Amino acid sequence: MSMGFFLDPPFYLSYNPPLLSARQSNDNASSHKERSNNMTKKVTVIGAGNVGATAAMRLAEKELADVVLIDILEGVPAGKALDLMEAAPIEKHDSSIIGATGDYSQAKDSDIIIITAGIPRKPGMSRDDLLATNMGIMDAVTRGVAAVAPDAVLIIVSNPLDAMCHVAYNASGFPKNRVLGMAGVLDSARFRAFIAMELNVSVENTHAFVLGGHGDTMVPLPRFSTVAGIPITQLMSPERIEALVERTRNGGAEIVGLLKTGSAYYAPASAAVEMAEAILKDKKKILPCAACLNGEYGINDLFIGVPVKLGAGGAEEIIEIELTDDEKADLNRSADAVRGLVEDMKRLSS
Ligand code: APR
Repeated sequence: MSMGFFLDPPFYLSYNPPLLSARQSNDNASSHKERSNNMTKKVTVIGAGNVGATAAMRLAEKELADVVLIDILEGVPAGKALDLMEAAPIEKHDSSIIGATGDYSQAKDSDIIIITAGIPRKPGMSRDDLLATNMGIMDAVTRGVAAVAPDAVLIIVSNPLDAMCHVAYNASGFPKNRVLGMAGVLDSARFRAFIAMELNVSVENTHAFVLGGHGDTMVPLPRFSTVAGIPITQLMSPERIEALVERTRNGGAEIVGLLKTGSAYYAPASAAVEMAEAILKDKKKILPCAACLNGEYGINDLFIGVPVKLGAGGAEEIIEIELTDDEKADLNRSADAVRGLVEDMKRLSS
């Protein structure tokens, strides 16, 4: 992890009055010196859209790190950063949030980079068009930030998630343990929310276990999903479990159908921040993440959702569990879908 912060001058030499710091949160912000004096960590969020700005808010409100928001849009990251700074006195946090347009140097020495940059599918756009566009964005963004934050852990959020992890891994040149995708935490949070609603219990009592790619090919494992330690297979009929699994698989689409003009962002932002917190605090927390497998689960050189122990080193361990034949078949189907996207990307870039 970057130790850059510890080389900063002591508090009394680098003190900036908070008002000045907020006022300087503009596109011309020239360095990360605007960091607050009490945060030891720095997180850069690329893409100041719905997911990115919400993640920045949660990171700051939890005082996990100073936050830099970067986007290509003129004024938007600076405006959202300033708005968040103006909420700070009410929300009672002292994190600094700055915004910058297209200036990757602001990401210098970040401990974590969360990448949410991308475009949603527009009418008339083919799946290949979307894939090609988001590949290009992910490649450019990753190269930009990897050059200035060579010790960072990357948390990829942009879709199609597993494919975008491959792009970020190749473009960054980072070791496998420092490139992770946010998918399983979101999918399992959705599953947990539905289990809690169904059984009328606290969400805090729920745990859910999800493997595989993000979305349609996700592989929920009900026998490892529990309420107060009791497997849900003992609490619900197979039909109800299947209904909740199906709703979880379509969780993203259900929200798009309601919002009409965009996709989910509160839960995706929470999920990315839970991963960031585990890494920043070196918690050794096991969370379902997209990670590059190296023979685990019989899969090689492919990003796919598996339980990962997260700590200061990023993905510190991939947890392998014994699967039934049906579960193995589902995971392999999901891996085939991700492999298909990786092949599509090779075709599009050749
Ligand atoms: N560099 C920086 N930012 C970029 C770039 C780029 N090269 N290209 C696009 N962006 C920005 C857009 O300007 C926009 O502000 O990425 C932001 C994306 O924000 P939204 O369109 O609001 O999308 P959001 O809902 O935040 O989702 C972001 O996360 O969950 C996934 O599927 C979702 O891939 C999508 C991503």
